[in-house]
Amino acid sequence: MNYRHGFHAGNFADILKHVILMRMLAHLALKPAPFRVLDTHAGSGLYDLKSEEAERTGEWRNGIGRMGATFSAEAEMVLAPWRAALRAISPEGRFYPGSPLFIREGLREQDRAVFNEAHPKAEAALKKLLAPYRDPRLAVTALDGYTMWKAQIPPKERRGMVLVDPPFEVRDEFSQLATGIAMMGRKWPGGSLAIWYPVKDQAGLRFFEEKAVESGFADILSVELHVDRPLAEGPLVGTGLLIANPPFTLARDMEALLPELAARLALSDRARYRIDWLTKS
Ligand SMILES: C[S@@+](CC[C@H](N)C(=O)[O-])C[C@H]1O[C@@H](n2cnc3c(N)ncnc32)[C@H](O)[C@@H]1O
Repeated sequence: MNYRHGFHAGNFADILKHVILMRMLAHLALKPAPFRVLDTHAGSGLYDLKSEEAERTGEWRNGIGRMGATFSAEAEMVLAPWRAALRAISPEGRFYPGSPLFIREGLREQDRAVFNEAHPKAEAALKKLLAPYRDPRLAVTALDGYTMWKAQIPPKERRGMVLVDPPFEVRDEFSQLATGIAMMGRKWPGGSLAIWYPVKDQAGLRFFEEKAVESGFADILSVELHVDRPLAEGPLVGTGLLIANPPFTLARDMEALLPELAARLALSDRARYRIDWLTKS
């Protein structure tokens, strides 16, 4: 486990992931019944954009660093929960939050979240970050992410979502994700699920998408953002989320946002986006 998210925090892939995460939470909050969020690979929770790690790659400059100027009114509506969370967490913009702090912003009094992080240092940092909040809605576990995913579903609320955001350090990550989505399709077919992936290994991705379709979820949406032409090797320029049981508005939201987001974050004229239903009821 060498992956450290501090090198990548606030990059274009984080923007897409967290904008979608906040849309999903806002949708869950439309009904008063409580929901639960499971974050299988949570990270340390907050990243200093002036840290040595962040400066070394400078990835955030082509992500959050380009998000300042406003988009069209339609796109800003989609960005609104993400922007509100950013303002609440780091008003001066020095820090970029990780998924746990974004999720905390999306919870109401009756909702719960469990953050799982297997790396001891990142887990300790996350616990230290959350301690001052004394927030009884939050719990931290330190299991393997796939073990936690299986152990925690379905939650007693029977409403909610799982965010699966693995580091893709191992070659068989798509196989593990395929096993995981099949498991969730059996144990909690009514839950929502967002799986993050890099667009690099196209064969692995196609295999994973085929397995996802076989998982039994009625609705699966794929959303991708490429800031340049994705290649198997080299720096990450393409990212996606596979979303099972997305909010019914999410595809429309992405149609409103992604043309502008792709233009804003483009590194070349090869920037693209993709919004595809893999299955649709
Ligand atoms: C991409 S980062 C997570 C970023 C976070 N979800 C966010 O959006 O801010 C992946 C995290 O998974 C952790 N990790 C690595 N292997 C893991 C495993 N087997 N189970 C759980 N977490 C793991 C890494 O330490 C890293 O913090």
